[in-house]
Amino acid sequence: MQKILIDGGVSLRGRVKVSGAKNSALPLLMATILAEGEHRLHNVPDLVDVRTTCKLLRELGLDAQMGRGVARVSNRGPKSHEASYDLVKTMRASVLCLGPLVGRFGRARVSLPGGCAIGSRPIDQHLKGLERLGARVSIDHGYVEASARKLSGAPIVFDMPTVTGTENLMMAAVLAKGVTEIKNAAMEPEVVQLAEVLCAMGARIRGAGTESIEVEGVGGLEPMHTTVIPDRIEAGTLMVAAAITQGDVLLSGVRSSHLAAPVEKLIEAGVAVAESKDGLRVKATGRPRPVDVTTQPYPGFATDMQAQFMALMTLARGTAVISEHIFENRFMHVQELKRMGARIRLEGSQAIVRGVRQLTGAQVMATDLRASASLVLAGLVAKGRTEVNRVYHLDRGYQRLDRKLRGLGAKIRRSRARPPVTPK
Ligand code: EPU
Repeated sequence: MQKILIDGGVSLRGRVKVSGAKNSALPLLMATILAEGEHRLHNVPDLVDVRTTCKLLRELGLDAQMGRGVARVSNRGPKSHEASYDLVKTMRASVLCLGPLVGRFGRARVSLPGGCAIGSRPIDQHLKGLERLGARVSIDHGYVEASARKLSGAPIVFDMPTVTGTENLMMAAVLAKGVTEIKNAAMEPEVVQLAEVLCAMGARIRGAGTESIEVEGVGGLEPMHTTVIPDRIEAGTLMVAAAITQGDVLLSGVRSSHLAAPVEKLIEAGVAVAESKDGLRVKATGRPRPVDVTTQPYPGFATDMQAQFMALMTLARGTAVISEHIFENRFMHVQELKRMGARIRLEGSQAIVRGVRQLTGAQVMATDLRASASLVLAGLVAKGRTEVNRVYHLDRGYQRLDRKLRGLGAKIRRSRARPPVTPK
């Protein structure tokens, strides 16, 4: 098992290119199920979750290969309609094959995702939506089974905006008979990109990026040739890396319009953020001002940036309140940050963070992707050495974050963790 070693205290400087968005690449790869032919996706990040998705597509009988940022999927009609427990248990986003499988082939059998580290994360809205489109849905031996001779468009009102729920239902509806209206839809840029790519494949979708999406079913779709949008969460993480180390970093390949909420909060914290034709320059001097943050669906402050922003606030010149309103258990980084000297008190869905002058390096580990990123960020500025264990969480969603940080001057490297000593 690998771990990351960081000797903190270096101000990051230089230029870094942001990779393609994980949460856009995954639904786009699943959308290849919808059309036979040769699909090509550029700017695909080389991540464990992307490789897992390619593996899932291969299990369904598609030929999916990934290399040098390009994913090639050859769809000659799937041989299976099943996403097995072994794959779904490693990646919840596997559930995104449900919509395209039922929409295109009228059948899907997908292992029901369990709870995960950040919360219980049910998929009831996905299933309710499929039922509204006329699918028979049942749960049998831990699998969701959905079938329909032909889906029919219908109005769907989500109880809450759900990102993968909106994506799943859009993909189910593109080949349905008639018009589907999705109300209280998620408005994330990844939902918008999926809609745009589906439209380029021949689908008819209006309103993506608003609360109300209309999908008019069509008879068939063409394969996609597309480029994945930049990862706004990786960009936000690198912006915090610049801010926390009081550095000066230029992020290239970003879309600043997707970053309005974190940029706003960084500016409130006293960080200089300036856009130029070369990208987004983030420059900080001195400790940050305390800034309260509440996570919300897009365009609000993303839950996927909460842990990283908390790392920054551990060093604020005062007290910040961080409220998590999307997932009920997304504070696992708190205990670990406290081991590095942070002063944080948890009160239900709020973390009260009292800034300290200095964090100190420690051995830490996290149980989810964004929490791991927050520990790396804290390690960049902590006094002495920080060891971040369970690096595989980081590799699920960040393409070589350690290498990117090293390119900016950070003293960060990987090493193999020793196997645990078993008592005799
Ligand atoms: N929810 C339900 N029922 C449902 C669906 C969602 O109760 O059927 C609840 C969830 O439990 C949560 C809220 O609705 O409280 C919003 O969840 P959402 O469905 O939007 O989350 P998701 O689609 O499962 C995606 C991202 C997550 C990101 C969230 C929120 C992908 C593959 N995953 O998850 O990304 O945190 O949206 O923005 O797009 C990550 O990248 O680290 C990550 C966890």
